[in-house]
Amino acid sequence: MSSTPSLSLIHIIGSLNTDLTTYTPRIPLGGETLRATAFQTSSGGKGGNQAVACAKLSRTRALTDATATIRMIGAVGSDAHGHALLAGLQSAGVETSGVIMRNDVESGVAVVLVEEESGENRILLTAGANASLLPKQFESSLGEEQGEGAPDLVILQLEIPVETTVRILRTAREKGVDVLLNPAPAVELPSEAYEGLKHLVLNETEAVILSGCSVEALEKEETLSGVADVFHGRGVANVVITLGGKGVFFSGEGGDKGLAKAKKVQVVDTTAAGDTFVGAYALEVMKGGVGIESAVRRANEAAAMTIGKRGAQKSIPWADELS
Ligand code: RIB
Repeated sequence: MSSTPSLSLIHIIGSLNTDLTTYTPRIPLGGETLRATAFQTSSGGKGGNQAVACAKLSRTRALTDATATIRMIGAVGSDAHGHALLAGLQSAGVETSGVIMRNDVESGVAVVLVEEESGENRILLTAGANASLLPKQFESSLGEEQGEGAPDLVILQLEIPVETTVRILRTAREKGVDVLLNPAPAVELPSEAYEGLKHLVLNETEAVILSGCSVEALEKEETLSGVADVFHGRGVANVVITLGGKGVFFSGEGGDKGLAKAKKVQVVDTTAAGDTFVGAYALEVMKGGVGIESAVRRANEAAAMTIGKRGAQKSIPWADELS
């Protein structure tokens, strides 16, 4: 008799924002008024985007053939944005019982400017409800209280209070739960944040800020290894540094390291590309037996698809859209 393989359980603890995005031929100068090309309101936030990436990349557009259960833990306001953020997560197949809706604060908002020629974004964040996320909201979710055991992986970013993030990392370490930390946007973290960390996925700006290495150290393949070693030295098992058009440097606990070239694509909007990368990478490593290099290549492929479309969560591909 064949048995259905059990689904892996991933918890994403982090931010939920409404993205107010303006597409512009260029960024206006101080005091200048410029006519923009387009505007759109959509669901975003690094936490929400990574949850949606995990959900969409682990099931088909028809929400079938799921390979993972994805639970979001976060906070929104009881405003129109909060309701839309919850609906967006649910429509992608994300389980949202861990998202608190608060009456006393507004939902997080990100004002995003996308320069059309490069597709590059500039983001201004107002944390709103995200700033209210307290350790007690996630602590029960790391235990057995929900009847399905602890998650196989917890994914974190840095758009919620740092104290909360550090407490989650400590609790996960004590309970033996693997964590993937995407330290974005980068802020200094205490050394204990890195101890026993299974996966650290960061971009070049974050790598410079958090490693203390020079920008030049990220420019040559020979010196990239030294940057990764700073994090290995602090206790991180797998280090992945995304370098935009130059590719992705990976350095795994098994000694595998190298530079995976970036896919050449038409850049429309880079918003959520990093989040898609994190989600795809997480799903690959959860499969077991998949090396860090193939996880990075799959993540590159998924992120390249997100870059080709406008918006955050809606630009992330479903599993049946990837080759
Ligand atoms: O990573 C992209 C996200 O960063 C956007 O969706 C925006 O909400 C900000 O949090």
